[in-house]
Amino acid sequence: MGERLIKFTPIFRMGSMTFFDHIPLLPPDSIVGLQVAVKADKRPSKVNLSIGVYQTEALKTPLLDAVRHAESEMLAEGRNREYLPIDGDKSLIEELGKLVFGERHWKKSEGTIAGFQAVGGTGALRLSGEFLKAHISGEIHISDPTWANHRGVFIRCGLGLHNYPYYDFATHELNFDAMMEGFKKLPEKSVVLLHACCHNPTGKDPTPDQWRQIRDLFVGRKLIPFFDLAYQGFHRGLDEDAHAVRLFAEAGIEMLVVYSCAKNFSLYAERVGALFVCAQSETAARNISSQIKILIRTLYSNPPIHGAQIVARILKSPILSKEWEAELMQMRKRTNQMRKAFAEALSTKIPARDFDYITSGAGMFCYSGLSSDQVNRLIAEHALYLPQDGRLNLAGLTPNNLDFVTTAIASVS
Ligand SMILES: Cc1ncc(COP(=O)(O)O)c(C=O)c1O
Repeated sequence: MGERLIKFTPIFRMGSMTFFDHIPLLPPDSIVGLQVAVKADKRPSKVNLSIGVYQTEALKTPLLDAVRHAESEMLAEGRNREYLPIDGDKSLIEELGKLVFGERHWKKSEGTIAGFQAVGGTGALRLSGEFLKAHISGEIHISDPTWANHRGVFIRCGLGLHNYPYYDFATHELNFDAMMEGFKKLPEKSVVLLHACCHNPTGKDPTPDQWRQIRDLFVGRKLIPFFDLAYQGFHRGLDEDAHAVRLFAEAGIEMLVVYSCAKNFSLYAERVGALFVCAQSETAARNISSQIKILIRTLYSNPPIHGAQIVARILKSPILSKEWEAELMQMRKRTNQMRKAFAEALSTKIPARDFDYITSGAGMFCYSGLSSDQVNRLIAEHALYLPQDGRLNLAGLTPNNLDFVTTAIASVS
Protein backbone atom coordinates (compact mmCIF):
# COMPACT_ATOMS: atom_id res chain seq x y z
CA MET A 1 0.00 0.00 0.00
CA GLY A 2 2.76 2.43 1.09
CA GLU A 3 4.76 1.45 -1.96
CA ARG A 4 1.97 2.41 -4.27
CA LEU A 5 1.69 5.85 -2.67
CA ILE A 6 5.46 6.50 -3.00
CA LYS A 7 5.35 5.31 -6.57
CA PHE A 8 2.51 7.58 -7.68
CA THR A 9 3.00 10.78 -5.68
CA PRO A 10 5.91 12.21 -7.74
CA ILE A 11 3.91 11.96 -10.97
CA PHE A 12 1.24 14.32 -9.56
CA ARG A 13 3.88 16.70 -8.18
CA MET A 14 5.82 16.93 -11.38
CA GLY A 15 3.05 16.74 -13.97
CA SER A 16 2.34 19.76 -16.13
CA MET A 17 -1.19 18.45 -16.61
CA THR A 18 -3.62 17.17 -13.99
CA PHE A 19 -6.79 15.23 -14.49
CA PHE A 20 -8.89 17.23 -12.08
CA ASP A 21 -7.62 20.80 -11.98
CA HIS A 22 -9.93 22.01 -14.75
CA ILE A 23 -13.02 21.27 -12.67
CA PRO A 24 -14.72 24.56 -11.69
CA LEU A 25 -16.09 25.25 -8.24
CA LEU A 26 -19.88 25.50 -8.08
CA PRO A 27 -21.66 27.61 -5.47
CA PRO A 28 -23.24 25.56 -2.66
CA ASP A 29 -26.95 24.75 -2.84
CA SER A 30 -28.64 27.95 -1.74
CA ILE A 31 -30.59 26.49 1.20
CA VAL A 32 -28.31 23.64 2.27
CA GLY A 33 -25.34 26.04 1.95
CA LEU A 34 -27.04 28.48 4.30
CA GLN A 35 -27.07 25.86 7.06
CA VAL A 36 -23.28 25.99 7.15
CA ALA A 37 -23.45 29.75 7.75
CA VAL A 38 -26.07 29.25 10.48
CA LYS A 39 -23.89 26.71 12.26
CA ALA A 40 -20.85 28.98 12.07
CA ASP A 41 -22.77 32.01 13.42
CA LYS A 42 -21.80 32.42 17.09
CA ARG A 43 -24.48 34.98 17.97
CA PRO A 44 -26.64 33.34 20.66
CA SER A 45 -29.82 35.05 19.45
CA LYS A 46 -29.61 33.50 15.96
CA VAL A 47 -32.84 32.13 14.49
CA ASN A 48 -32.95 29.79 11.53
CA LEU A 49 -36.13 29.93 9.46
CA SER A 50 -34.46 28.85 6.26
CA ILE A 51 -34.78 25.08 5.94
CA GLY A 52 -38.00 23.13 5.50
CA VAL A 53 -37.84 21.07 8.66
CA TYR A 54 -40.50 20.97 11.39
CA GLN A 55 -39.32 21.91 14.87
CA THR A 56 -40.97 21.70 18.26
CA GLU A 57 -41.37 24.67 20.58
CA ALA A 58 -37.97 23.68 22.00
CA LEU A 59 -36.56 24.01 18.45
CA LYS A 60 -35.93 20.30 18.15
CA THR A 61 -36.80 18.11 15.18
CA PRO A 62 -38.89 15.48 16.93
CA LEU A 63 -38.42 11.74 16.97
CA LEU A 64 -42.07 10.73 16.95
CA ASP A 65 -43.26 8.24 19.59
CA ALA A 66 -44.92 6.20 16.84
CA VAL A 67 -41.52 5.93 15.13
CA ARG A 68 -39.78 5.03 18.37
CA HIS A 69 -42.36 2.34 19.13
CA ALA A 70 -42.18 0.90 15.62
CA GLU A 71 -38.40 0.79 15.88
CA SER A 72 -38.39 -1.00 19.21
CA GLU A 73 -40.79 -3.63 17.85
CA MET A 74 -38.48 -4.07 14.86
CA LEU A 75 -35.44 -4.37 17.11
CA ALA A 76 -37.15 -7.02 19.24
CA GLU A 77 -37.91 -9.03 16.12
CA GLY A 78 -34.28 -8.88 15.00
CA ARG A 79 -34.76 -8.43 11.29
CA ASN A 80 -32.11 -9.34 8.78
CA ARG A 81 -30.81 -6.89 6.20
CA GLU A 82 -31.42 -8.72 2.96
CA TYR A 83 -31.79 -6.58 -0.14
CA LEU A 84 -35.26 -5.25 -0.78
CA PRO A 85 -36.75 -5.86 -4.22
CA ILE A 86 -35.80 -3.22 -6.83
CA ASP A 87 -39.13 -1.44 -6.39
CA GLY A 88 -38.88 -1.55 -2.62
CA ASP A 89 -40.89 -2.73 0.33
CA LYS A 90 -44.25 -3.99 -0.96
CA SER A 91 -46.08 -3.23 2.27
CA LEU A 92 -44.79 0.35 2.25
CA ILE A 93 -46.19 0.86 -1.25
CA GLU A 94 -49.47 -0.79 -0.27
CA GLU A 95 -49.89 1.37 2.85
CA LEU A 96 -48.79 4.62 1.20
CA GLY A 97 -51.05 3.82 -1.76
CA LYS A 98 -54.04 3.70 0.59
CA LEU A 99 -52.94 6.88 2.35
CA VAL A 100 -52.50 8.83 -0.88
CA PHE A 101 -55.37 7.57 -3.03
CA GLY A 102 -57.80 6.50 -0.30
CA GLU A 103 -58.46 2.84 0.47
CA ARG A 104 -61.41 2.50 -1.91
CA HIS A 105 -59.67 3.89 -4.97
CA TRP A 106 -56.44 2.03 -4.21
CA LYS A 107 -58.31 -1.30 -4.07
CA LYS A 108 -60.37 -0.48 -7.14
CA SER A 109 -57.24 0.38 -9.13
CA GLU A 110 -55.37 -2.77 -8.24
CA GLY A 111 -52.83 -3.54 -10.92
CA THR A 112 -53.20 -0.23 -12.76
CA ILE A 113 -51.14 1.93 -10.40
CA ALA A 114 -47.44 1.15 -10.54
CA GLY A 115 -45.83 1.98 -7.17
CA PHE A 116 -42.17 2.24 -6.22
CA GLN A 117 -40.37 2.98 -2.99
CA ALA A 118 -37.97 5.86 -3.63
CA VAL A 119 -35.07 7.54 -1.91
CA GLY A 120 -37.17 10.34 -0.43
CA GLY A 121 -39.38 12.66 -2.43
CA THR A 122 -36.29 13.94 -4.22
CA GLY A 123 -35.37 10.44 -5.40
CA ALA A 124 -38.94 9.96 -6.61
CA LEU A 125 -38.73 13.25 -8.53
CA ARG A 126 -35.49 12.17 -10.14
CA LEU A 127 -36.92 8.79 -11.17
CA SER A 128 -39.95 10.57 -12.59
CA GLY A 129 -37.80 13.04 -14.52
CA GLU A 130 -35.74 10.23 -16.04
CA PHE A 131 -38.89 8.27 -16.90
CA LEU A 132 -40.62 11.29 -18.45
CA LYS A 133 -37.57 12.21 -20.51
CA ALA A 134 -37.22 8.68 -21.86
CA HIS A 135 -40.89 7.95 -22.61
CA ILE A 136 -43.25 10.91 -22.39
CA SER A 137 -41.81 14.36 -23.02
CA GLY A 138 -38.59 16.35 -23.08
CA GLU A 139 -40.31 19.30 -21.39
CA ILE A 140 -41.87 19.98 -18.02
CA HIS A 141 -43.99 22.86 -16.74
CA ILE A 142 -43.40 24.04 -13.19
CA SER A 143 -45.08 26.74 -11.12
CA ASP A 144 -43.54 30.18 -10.81
CA PRO A 145 -42.17 30.02 -8.16
CA THR A 146 -41.52 26.47 -7.04
CA TRP A 147 -39.26 24.53 -4.66
CA ALA A 148 -35.76 25.36 -5.91
CA ASN A 149 -34.69 21.74 -6.22
CA HIS A 150 -37.42 20.99 -8.76
CA ARG A 151 -35.42 23.02 -11.23
CA GLY A 152 -32.16 21.33 -10.30
CA VAL A 153 -33.54 17.81 -10.53
CA PHE A 154 -35.30 18.27 -13.86
CA ILE A 155 -32.39 20.10 -15.47
CA ARG A 156 -30.14 17.17 -14.50
CA CYS A 157 -32.65 14.83 -16.16
CA GLY A 158 -32.21 16.85 -19.36
CA LEU A 159 -35.78 18.17 -19.35
CA GLY A 160 -36.58 21.60 -20.77
CA LEU A 161 -38.16 23.73 -18.01
CA HIS A 162 -41.07 26.12 -18.47
CA ASN A 163 -42.77 28.21 -15.82
CA TYR A 164 -46.51 28.57 -15.59
CA PRO A 165 -47.95 31.58 -13.73
CA TYR A 166 -48.85 30.69 -10.16
CA TYR A 167 -48.33 33.44 -7.64
CA ASP A 168 -49.22 37.09 -7.71
CA PHE A 169 -46.24 38.75 -6.06
CA ALA A 170 -48.22 41.96 -5.52
CA THR A 171 -51.24 40.48 -3.72
CA HIS A 172 -49.38 37.48 -2.23
CA GLU A 173 -52.15 35.20 -3.48
CA LEU A 174 -52.50 32.40 -5.99
CA ASN A 175 -53.08 33.94 -9.41
CA PHE A 176 -55.66 31.39 -10.43
CA ASP A 177 -56.85 33.11 -13.61
CA ALA A 178 -53.33 33.58 -14.97
CA MET A 179 -52.49 29.96 -14.12
CA MET A 180 -55.56 28.67 -15.95
CA GLU A 181 -54.81 30.89 -18.94
CA GLY A 182 -51.27 29.49 -18.94
CA PHE A 183 -52.58 25.90 -18.87
CA LYS A 184 -54.95 26.64 -21.75
CA LYS A 185 -52.00 27.55 -23.97
CA LEU A 186 -50.09 24.31 -23.36
CA PRO A 187 -49.94 21.72 -26.10
CA GLU A 188 -51.56 18.32 -25.56
CA LYS A 189 -49.56 15.86 -23.45
CA SER A 190 -47.65 18.61 -21.68
CA VAL A 191 -46.41 17.42 -18.29
CA VAL A 192 -47.37 19.82 -15.50
CA LEU A 193 -45.95 19.60 -12.00
CA LEU A 194 -48.57 20.44 -9.36
CA HIS A 195 -47.97 20.79 -5.62
CA ALA A 196 -50.74 18.63 -4.16
CA CYS A 197 -50.92 20.71 -0.95
CA CYS A 198 -48.91 23.23 1.08
CA HIS A 199 -47.27 24.80 -1.98
CA ASN A 200 -43.55 25.28 -1.39
CA PRO A 201 -42.49 28.13 -1.22
CA THR A 202 -45.67 30.25 -1.29
CA GLY A 203 -48.05 28.38 1.05
CA LYS A 204 -50.87 29.17 -1.41
CA ASP A 205 -52.98 26.28 -2.72
CA PRO A 206 -56.00 26.18 -5.02
CA THR A 207 -59.36 25.73 -3.25
CA PRO A 208 -61.26 22.44 -3.75
CA ASP A 209 -63.46 24.18 -6.32
CA GLN A 210 -60.41 25.50 -8.17
CA TRP A 211 -58.89 22.00 -8.16
CA ARG A 212 -62.07 20.76 -9.87
CA GLN A 213 -61.65 23.42 -12.55
CA ILE A 214 -57.99 22.48 -12.99
CA ARG A 215 -58.93 18.81 -13.32
CA ASP A 216 -61.57 19.56 -15.95
CA LEU A 217 -59.14 21.69 -17.90
CA PHE A 218 -56.47 18.97 -17.74
CA VAL A 219 -58.97 16.42 -19.05
CA GLY A 220 -60.20 18.76 -21.79
CA ARG A 221 -56.75 19.77 -22.95
CA LYS A 222 -55.16 16.35 -22.38
CA LEU A 223 -52.44 17.58 -20.02
CA ILE A 224 -50.49 15.16 -17.84
CA PRO A 225 -50.63 15.93 -14.11
CA PHE A 226 -47.54 15.22 -12.06
CA PHE A 227 -48.27 15.69 -8.36
CA ASP A 228 -45.68 16.36 -5.69
CA LEU A 229 -47.14 15.44 -2.28
CA ALA A 230 -44.53 16.23 0.36
CA TYR A 231 -46.67 17.66 3.18
CA GLN A 232 -49.69 15.38 3.57
CA GLY A 233 -51.29 16.17 6.91
CA PHE A 234 -49.58 19.52 7.39
CA HIS A 235 -52.49 21.73 6.41
CA ARG A 236 -55.92 20.35 7.25
CA GLY A 237 -55.54 16.60 7.65
CA LEU A 238 -54.51 13.42 5.85
CA ASP A 239 -57.65 13.06 3.74
CA GLU A 240 -58.11 16.78 3.13
CA ASP A 241 -54.52 17.24 1.97
CA ALA A 242 -54.85 14.36 -0.49
CA HIS A 243 -57.98 15.93 -1.98
CA ALA A 244 -56.39 17.11 -5.24
CA VAL A 245 -54.62 13.82 -5.97
CA ARG A 246 -57.77 11.83 -5.27
CA LEU A 247 -59.92 14.13 -7.39
CA PHE A 248 -57.70 13.51 -10.41
CA ALA A 249 -57.15 9.81 -9.70
CA GLU A 250 -60.84 9.10 -9.29
CA ALA A 251 -61.44 10.67 -12.70
CA GLY A 252 -59.21 7.95 -14.15
CA ILE A 253 -56.56 10.39 -15.37
CA GLU A 254 -53.13 9.02 -16.21
CA MET A 255 -50.67 10.77 -13.93
CA LEU A 256 -47.63 10.62 -11.66
CA VAL A 257 -47.51 11.20 -7.91
CA VAL A 258 -44.31 11.59 -5.93
CA TYR A 259 -44.47 11.28 -2.16
CA SER A 260 -42.20 12.19 0.72
CA CYS A 261 -42.41 10.80 4.27
CA ALA A 262 -39.75 13.25 5.49
CA LYS A 263 -42.03 15.85 7.07
CA ASN A 264 -45.16 14.00 8.13
CA PHE A 265 -43.24 11.14 9.79
CA SER A 266 -40.36 13.44 10.83
CA LEU A 267 -38.07 10.92 9.14
CA TYR A 268 -35.94 13.35 7.14
CA ALA A 269 -32.68 11.42 7.16
CA GLU A 270 -34.26 8.02 6.55
CA ARG A 271 -35.05 9.07 2.96
CA VAL A 272 -38.44 7.42 2.64
CA GLY A 273 -40.53 8.32 -0.37
CA ALA A 274 -42.50 6.82 -3.21
CA LEU A 275 -43.49 7.21 -6.81
CA PHE A 276 -46.87 6.17 -8.16
CA VAL A 277 -47.72 6.10 -11.84
CA CYS A 278 -51.45 5.78 -12.54
CA ALA A 279 -52.07 3.99 -15.81
CA GLN A 280 -55.28 2.95 -17.52
CA SER A 281 -54.56 -0.74 -17.87
CA GLU A 282 -52.68 -3.48 -16.07
CA THR A 283 -50.51 -3.98 -19.15
CA ALA A 284 -49.48 -0.32 -19.20
CA ALA A 285 -48.72 -0.40 -15.46
CA ARG A 286 -46.63 -3.56 -15.89
CA ASN A 287 -44.67 -2.01 -18.75
CA ILE A 288 -44.09 1.21 -16.84
CA SER A 289 -42.97 -0.83 -13.85
CA SER A 290 -40.41 -2.70 -15.94
CA GLN A 291 -38.97 0.60 -17.21
CA ILE A 292 -38.75 2.28 -13.83
CA LYS A 293 -37.21 -0.82 -12.27
CA ILE A 294 -34.39 -0.60 -14.82
CA LEU A 295 -33.85 3.02 -13.85
CA ILE A 296 -33.66 2.10 -10.16
CA ARG A 297 -31.45 -0.91 -10.78
CA THR A 298 -28.91 1.19 -12.63
CA LEU A 299 -29.03 4.15 -10.25
CA TYR A 300 -28.85 2.54 -6.80
CA SER A 301 -30.00 -1.05 -7.34
CA ASN A 302 -32.64 -1.11 -4.61
CA PRO A 303 -33.78 1.21 -1.83
CA PRO A 304 -32.85 1.21 1.88
CA ILE A 305 -34.94 -0.82 4.31
CA HIS A 306 -35.01 0.81 7.72
CA GLY A 307 -37.16 3.91 7.25
CA ALA A 308 -39.45 2.11 4.84
CA GLN A 309 -40.24 -0.57 7.41
CA ILE A 310 -40.87 2.02 10.10
CA VAL A 311 -43.46 3.77 7.94
CA ALA A 312 -45.05 0.52 6.76
CA ARG A 313 -45.27 -0.80 10.33
CA ILE A 314 -46.89 2.39 11.61
CA LEU A 315 -49.45 2.48 8.83
CA LYS A 316 -50.29 -1.21 9.15
CA SER A 317 -50.86 -1.07 12.88
CA PRO A 318 -54.12 0.55 14.07
CA ILE A 319 -52.44 1.45 17.38
CA LEU A 320 -49.29 2.95 15.89
CA SER A 321 -51.14 4.79 13.15
CA LYS A 322 -53.48 6.33 15.70
CA GLU A 323 -50.48 7.47 17.71
CA TRP A 324 -48.82 8.86 14.55
CA GLU A 325 -51.93 10.73 13.45
CA ALA A 326 -52.16 12.39 16.86
CA GLU A 327 -48.51 13.45 16.65
CA LEU A 328 -48.97 14.71 13.10
CA MET A 329 -51.98 16.69 14.30
CA GLN A 330 -49.78 18.27 16.98
CA MET A 331 -47.18 19.30 14.38
CA ARG A 332 -49.91 20.71 12.16
CA LYS A 333 -51.54 22.56 15.04
CA ARG A 334 -48.32 24.17 16.20
CA THR A 335 -47.40 25.26 12.67
CA ASN A 336 -50.86 26.75 12.10
CA GLN A 337 -50.75 28.50 15.47
CA MET A 338 -47.39 30.06 14.66
CA ARG A 339 -48.69 31.14 11.26
CA LYS A 340 -51.53 33.02 12.94
CA ALA A 341 -49.35 34.47 15.69
CA PHE A 342 -46.73 35.59 13.15
CA ALA A 343 -49.33 37.43 11.04
CA GLU A 344 -50.81 39.08 14.16
CA ALA A 345 -47.41 40.20 15.46
CA LEU A 346 -46.44 41.63 12.06
CA SER A 347 -49.77 43.48 11.83
CA THR A 348 -49.04 45.12 15.19
CA LYS A 349 -45.48 46.07 14.27
CA ILE A 350 -46.13 47.13 10.67
CA PRO A 351 -49.69 48.50 10.87
CA ALA A 352 -49.59 49.98 7.38
CA ARG A 353 -49.54 46.52 5.83
CA ASP A 354 -52.09 43.75 5.63
CA PHE A 355 -50.83 40.27 6.58
CA ASP A 356 -54.03 38.28 6.08
CA TYR A 357 -52.30 36.47 3.22
CA ILE A 358 -50.07 34.80 5.80
CA THR A 359 -52.99 33.68 7.98
CA SER A 360 -54.78 32.12 5.01
CA GLY A 361 -51.73 30.19 3.76
CA ALA A 362 -51.16 26.44 4.06
CA GLY A 363 -48.35 24.32 5.45
CA MET A 364 -44.93 25.16 6.72
CA PHE A 365 -44.03 28.08 4.51
CA CYS A 366 -44.98 31.61 3.75
CA TYR A 367 -43.49 33.90 1.21
CA SER A 368 -42.60 36.91 3.30
CA GLY A 369 -42.19 39.29 0.37
CA LEU A 370 -38.80 40.39 1.77
CA SER A 371 -36.26 41.35 -0.89
CA SER A 372 -32.83 39.75 -1.00
CA ASP A 373 -31.35 43.03 0.34
CA GLN A 374 -33.70 42.85 3.30
CA VAL A 375 -32.85 39.17 3.82
CA ASN A 376 -29.14 40.02 3.79
CA ARG A 377 -29.73 42.72 6.40
CA LEU A 378 -31.70 40.31 8.56
CA ILE A 379 -28.80 37.87 8.45
CA ALA A 380 -26.07 40.49 9.00
CA GLU A 381 -27.79 42.68 11.59
CA HIS A 382 -30.04 40.23 13.42
CA ALA A 383 -28.71 36.70 12.82
CA LEU A 384 -32.13 35.87 11.39
CA TYR A 385 -31.63 33.37 8.56
CA LEU A 386 -33.96 33.11 5.56
CA PRO A 387 -33.22 32.03 2.00
CA GLN A 388 -32.73 34.82 -0.54
CA ASP A 389 -36.28 34.52 -1.90
CA GLY A 390 -37.69 35.45 1.53
CA ARG A 391 -39.44 32.10 2.08
CA LEU A 392 -39.94 31.57 5.77
CA ASN A 393 -40.39 28.32 7.69
CA LEU A 394 -43.17 28.96 10.19
CA ALA A 395 -42.33 25.74 12.02
CA GLY A 396 -39.07 27.38 13.14
CA LEU A 397 -41.03 30.06 15.05
CA THR A 398 -41.81 29.70 18.75
CA PRO A 399 -43.58 31.91 21.30
CA ASN A 400 -40.05 32.71 22.55
CA ASN A 401 -38.52 33.92 19.29
CA LEU A 402 -41.64 35.45 17.70
CA ASP A 403 -41.09 38.93 19.12
CA PHE A 404 -37.41 38.92 18.12
CA VAL A 405 -38.22 37.74 14.58
CA THR A 406 -41.06 40.18 13.92
CA THR A 407 -39.14 43.12 15.43
CA ALA A 408 -36.19 42.30 13.16
CA ILE A 409 -38.46 42.07 10.10
CA ALA A 410 -40.16 45.37 11.00
CA SER A 411 -36.74 47.04 11.33
CA VAL A 412 -35.81 46.22 7.72
CA SER A 413 -39.29 46.73 6.22
C1 LIG B 1 -42.25 20.33 -2.57
C2 LIG B 1 -41.21 19.35 -2.14
N1 LIG B 1 -41.05 18.22 -2.83
C3 LIG B 1 -40.13 17.30 -2.49
C4 LIG B 1 -39.34 17.49 -1.39
C5 LIG B 1 -38.28 16.44 -1.10
O1 LIG B 1 -38.48 15.72 0.02
P1 LIG B 1 -37.40 14.65 0.52
O2 LIG B 1 -36.70 15.28 1.66
O3 LIG B 1 -38.22 13.46 0.90
O4 LIG B 1 -36.49 14.36 -0.59
C6 LIG B 1 -39.47 18.65 -0.63
C7 LIG B 1 -38.59 18.86 0.52
O5 LIG B 1 -38.41 19.93 1.03
C8 LIG B 1 -40.43 19.60 -1.01
O6 LIG B 1 -40.60 20.72 -0.33
